[in-house]
Amino acid sequence: MKKIAIIAGDGIGPEVTACSRLLLEKIAQQNNWEITFEEVLMGHVAIEATGNPLPEETLSACRVADAILFGAVGHPYYDENPQLKVRPEQGLLRLRKELGLYANVRPIQVFPELSAASPLKTEIVAGADIVFFRELTGGIYFGQPRERQNNGDTALDTMIYHRYEVERIARKAFEAAMQRQKKICSVDKANVLESSRLWRETVNQIAKEYPEVALSHMFVDNAAMQLIKDPKQFDVVLTGNLFGDILTDEASQITGSLGMLPSASLGDSVGLYEPIHGSAPDIAGKNLANPMASMLSLALLLDMTYAETKAGNQIRTAIQKTLGAGYRTADIADKDTAQEKILGTAEITKQILSRI
Ligand code: IPM
Ligand code: MG
Repeated sequence: MKKIAIIAGDGIGPEVTACSRLLLEKIAQQNNWEITFEEVLMGHVAIEATGNPLPEETLSACRVADAILFGAVGHPYYDENPQLKVRPEQGLLRLRKELGLYANVRPIQVFPELSAASPLKTEIVAGADIVFFRELTGGIYFGQPRERQNNGDTALDTMIYHRYEVERIARKAFEAAMQRQKKICSVDKANVLESSRLWRETVNQIAKEYPEVALSHMFVDNAAMQLIKDPKQFDVVLTGNLFGDILTDEASQITGSLGMLPSASLGDSVGLYEPIHGSAPDIAGKNLANPMASMLSLALLLDMTYAETKAGNQIRTAIQKTLGAGYRTADIADKDTAQEKILGTAEITKQILSRI
């Protein structure tokens, strides 16, 4: 019995997650799997319903699940009202912390069919294949104190890393590198930050356990430049929470299609799988969202939580064939895409389902 918690969340989250569920139901049927789905609330929808961005019921459903399929959280109302104390993103941050999801894995792969979608020159991006390992439960996202002082005129966040936090994410990255090109670039700001000096020292230490892996270090400002200049130099990129947040959004543009990028957040038990894109409130409910990042997140779920790589590949292949047949959602269409091949969320899902 497979137990999956679904957190559809806000904006386009419910639409894209529903598409992935259809896919999983079809695959389950073909393989005679028994699956239970528990649909629970987080984010703005949870605040509306309960006042809490991460209701206890959601947390306990996630704790007993094998895996969580997550959509997105966020709502423009909060961006316009920065003084609000209860915010959708708190749900996700607390969930990551409570479940110990310290390793955020973000693969950046260019689909050959879409290499023209990148704002970068095709010869720079074609063939780029990077996996980011972003530390997800430490650093400045969680450091204390985090407060206002001086009658609100001074604000304080704390960038803090403990050795064990760096060790465990580094090990995950090295393990992944062993299965890939055996190359890691660790990104920090060790010329300025003490937490980065601990980071670098610790990564060097872990590297001794993996003599076959070539380790390099890069300052984050340089890494931001190198990703655009020559993305193919990277294999595994290992970095902290804030730098990883920023660099993975940047790296999404190597593919030019944020709507295609999945991610996994892993710890020692349950895994959470989600598209890299956010809630996209401007297109929510309009049948315009690209469901493929969510579907590719489902593929990662099948690979990583259940070791069902064959099923994961079924999804990837069905998506690739759909792209190969010329079908696109609006976000990845270009000037050469025939009008009738630009499909809505539901219609492209139908195409992908028919290729499973
Ligand atoms: C991400 C998002 C989150 C983060 C937000 C929604 C809190 O940007 O997953 O990258 O900053 O980690
Ligand atoms: Mg982000």
